[in-house]
Amino acid sequence: MLNTTESWNTFYESHPHMQPSTFSYWVLGNLYQTFSRKLASDETNPYYKDKFKLANLVDVGCGNGRDSLLFTNHMHDLDIRSLTCLDSSSEAIEATKVNLNAFSREKHAVEHCSFVVEDVCKFDFSSTDVCYCRFFLHAISEDDFHAFLGSLNHGTTFFAETRVLESSFDILGNKVVPGVYEYENHKRRILTVDVLLAELEKYMFICQTETGTYSSSSTIIEGRKDNPNLLRVYGIVK
Ligand SMILES: C[S@@+](CC[C@H](N)C(=O)[O-])C[C@H]1O[C@@H](n2cnc3c(N)ncnc32)[C@H](O)[C@@H]1O
Repeated sequence: MLNTTESWNTFYESHPHMQPSTFSYWVLGNLYQTFSRKLASDETNPYYKDKFKLANLVDVGCGNGRDSLLFTNHMHDLDIRSLTCLDSSSEAIEATKVNLNAFSREKHAVEHCSFVVEDVCKFDFSSTDVCYCRFFLHAISEDDFHAFLGSLNHGTTFFAETRVLESSFDILGNKVVPGVYEYENHKRRILTVDVLLAELEKYMFICQTETGTYSSSSTIIEGRKDNPNLLRVYGIVK
């Protein structure tokens, strides 16, 4: 683990609620195209039956559930069967439960949600169709990164937004081991786009990528100017 679960618990005690990220809206658009019965095709299409299926979505490292909340509001439209909110921090999962129950517009959708306090390396992804991870890949160690990606099923739809290094000078913090930087007692594993994509391509076919600074992501760290370089990835696990 890069940072202790206790440090994430402390963070989520003081950050119980945040707005859905811009990335979650980006993913929503992709999910509409991939999974929605309404947009997938009409029933006269011979491939319709094979193509369409209700999806089990897992929000990996969900934090306080800011993005899970958006997905619950669209579960019906997206034909999502179940949403699992997974995080190793019990405070994060408590905040997620409170937020989904208090703010989800689709109250019945919360009945199809499960809340799991678990390390990503111990979670069973065998029935996962869509794996969503925002600001998660840079929060785990190299070993956990490979254990996690290696445990995903063939055909899983994968979405991630993560910090990337643009140059060796654009990073806030000290390098503690290759690829890992520490700032204010918080460690992050941050790679260049090329290196990260090469690592991801070992596990998936990359369908779409985008890079940018996405300034609205800066709300992740309140009170601090922080518009990090980010990579967005949409892939299908090999
Ligand atoms: C930077 S936060 C991102 C939270 C949320 N996805 C968001 O975008 O606001 C990273 C999250 O990953 C969780 N996490 C870190 N290591 C983990 C692990 N090995 N297994 C499961 N969750 C982990 C932390 O507890 C934290 O909630």
